Amino acid sequence: MKHSFIYLAVCVSVAVACSKQTLQAPVTMKTTNLLDRKVDSVLNLMTLSEKVGQLNQYNGFWDITGPTPKEGQAAKKYDDLKKGLVGSMLNVKGVKDVRALQKIAVEETRLGIPLIFGFDVIHGYKTISPIPLAEAASWDLVAIKKSAAIAAEEAAAVGLNWTFAPMVDVARDARWGRVMEGAGEDPFLGSKIAVARVQGFQGMDLAATNTILACAKHFAGYAFAESGRDYNTVDISESVLQNTIFPPFKAAADAGVRTFMNSFNELNGVPATGSAYLQREILKKDWNFDGFVVSDWGSINEMIPHGFAKDSRHAAELAINAGSDMDMESSAYVDHLVQLVKEGKVKEATINDAARRILKVKFELGLFDDPYKYCDENREKTTVGKQEFHDGVLDVAKKSIVLLKNEKNLLPLQKSGQKIAIIGALAADKTSPLGSWRIAADDNTAVSVVEGMQKYTGNQITYVKGADVAVGRTQFIWETNINMTDKSGFPEAVAAAKKADVVVMVLGEHGLQSGEGRSRANIDLPGVQQELLEEVYKANPNVVLVLNNGRPLALPWADENIPAIVEAWQLGTQSGNAIAQVLYGDYNPSGKLPMTFPRSVGQLPLYYNAKNTGRPTMNEPESVFWSHFIDEKNTPLYPFGHGLSYSKFEYSDLKLSANSFGVNGKIEVSVTLKNNSKIAGKEVVQLYIRDLIGSTTRPIKELKGFEMIELQANESKKVIFTIDEKTIEYFTANRKWEAEAGDFKVFVGGSSATVLESSFQFVK
Ligand code: NOJ
Repeated sequence: MKHSFIYLAVCVSVAVACSKQTLQAPVTMKTTNLLDRKVDSVLNLMTLSEKVGQLNQYNGFWDITGPTPKEGQAAKKYDDLKKGLVGSMLNVKGVKDVRALQKIAVEETRLGIPLIFGFDVIHGYKTISPIPLAEAASWDLVAIKKSAAIAAEEAAAVGLNWTFAPMVDVARDARWGRVMEGAGEDPFLGSKIAVARVQGFQGMDLAATNTILACAKHFAGYAFAESGRDYNTVDISESVLQNTIFPPFKAAADAGVRTFMNSFNELNGVPATGSAYLQREILKKDWNFDGFVVSDWGSINEMIPHGFAKDSRHAAELAINAGSDMDMESSAYVDHLVQLVKEGKVKEATINDAARRILKVKFELGLFDDPYKYCDENREKTTVGKQEFHDGVLDVAKKSIVLLKNEKNLLPLQKSGQKIAIIGALAADKTSPLGSWRIAADDNTAVSVVEGMQKYTGNQITYVKGADVAVGRTQFIWETNINMTDKSGFPEAVAAAKKADVVVMVLGEHGLQSGEGRSRANIDLPGVQQELLEEVYKANPNVVLVLNNGRPLALPWADENIPAIVEAWQLGTQSGNAIAQVLYGDYNPSGKLPMTFPRSVGQLPLYYNAKNTGRPTMNEPESVFWSHFIDEKNTPLYPFGHGLSYSKFEYSDLKLSANSFGVNGKIEVSVTLKNNSKIAGKEVVQLYIRDLIGSTTRPIKELKGFEMIELQANESKKVIFTIDEKTIEYFTANRKWEAEAGDFKVFVGGSSATVLESSFQFVK
């Protein structure tokens, strides 16, 4: 009943708006104006507290199959829901539950405004894709977009219409557990991937029932937590913010992402949630973002312990005035905003603006036309876990694997006549490959490495655990009583290795050893896995080390001794199949690292696009007075962009179409790529530049282009990149994005450690 009331109100006022529009508005404004008028027609019906209600998001508080909550916080939330004081819910999933709550919003509240349902669909809902960092290693924007589209379709089928993804935080510190959730350390690659993910989730039509809202998070600076400790203080320059951190957010905004999430951290003394600079000045003014900003979980009230707000009421005032539109789970807005408006501390216009943004998105989702459009039991049944989704996540999983090292021709494995020993707890684990953010997926649903390898029946396979990976096994609780020192399985592992032709060791981190709250002070192999690796290697040096991890690890011993190393991250539901297909050469590895792998944790933060310093080298080898460690090299173990193939790619003939270009001009950079092998394969050709002198100091290399090239055996191809003014722009000492005249170097190759280089000038 209520639903039809508001629907009628919308139709009437839109009809008026439309007739006016034909007289006055230019044609291009038509759609926007129509939408805005629809939004206003609803807003005009609302009381102040109902508007505030739209800004309130609650976590699922009630088991809908049980009795309705009668007391405590759940009862208050239930009451708020019925009063129209809730605009969105998170962590409610499944058509039955979503429909039940939507029914309350639509049928029991005065205006019947539908809810939006959000969920962390970070790398899949039930059918799990590789963790985002792994997918970034594919450098394959089509596959990444497809993976997000699969997640969206599956999530939309269970009643959801909003994911809190993609996380587009550029991350340079592998100690930070959430590096697994982003696209790595580079703003250029990160921007391209941000766009692919936004497009994958949101599709071409937000109102379609196989697309969901995306959310660019965490705005901003979250990954720059001091010492990589989650939620820690962030203090960085405007130049780093603009040149490194903002680009993927800006790219997401330009790609039409409809929501942003702010972040837990303070940025230069101001919590991001209370930062008008970030949310009003940069996002809503400079970037013209017209979607809405949701706070992070409880981050409005977290401004109290930050020492920025004196209580929840003060926090609500600071957050809304700073441009944070929706309150996730602090209850600060619903409890205090009406009073704050009455006291004149918050303008009603500010509330209107926030409510308008949220209502607009609800219209875009089509919820005012049909609030139950995401609630189709039949679609839920036929969509979740579709074979097509499994094929899709397998495809991106294979593409995410990075071959770090391959000596002694150990890989690809021969398909018959071999005795293969598989060792390591992670090899048989069917939960860990699902990674950290797969809250809707069931434990034990990933294909393990052992299972994947067993599909190849020509070899004789034995599996021995060897040792546990020390880990707490639940999503939210960290178990500390795990035995980290048990070596009783070593003898059996060593015996199996002795009998084998090749040993495949699957070692690394459990899926829950990275992710939110999972910072590590050591980034080596947890528990006794390093010792196990060394013991097994002594028994049989033909070791293929398959790494499962959510962050770069520092493994200098393995790099020095183990002949073949495969970076296989946490690859999701199809993990074991993807790994087996790569090990046997049915997929020729094509991934490239999206983050630098250090030699030691002490080098962190370590990233390829660093500054040169005033003392990059010293001519006298014995001198101590240059920028280095006395006990470690400066170079990484594996550089950003590194990744091998079973093919052998060679680069030659780097040529520039001219030595200089000016305003509105451009230069073409060409290179010849040859596949000097008998195996067809794919290579990500990477273009870097160096701006030699700037009004502020410039990085020693910056990625500015990449292209995935597929070559048959012995085939060659000329690859061409274009450099123009846009390519060399940065946020200069003038505090604006511009290209500065001067000398540049250009590098092309298969990693950030490329050797082919040339130079050009930009003249103004
Ligand atoms: C906190 C995390 O920081 C954020 O990324 C996530 O979306 C919310 N919790 C909701 O679960």
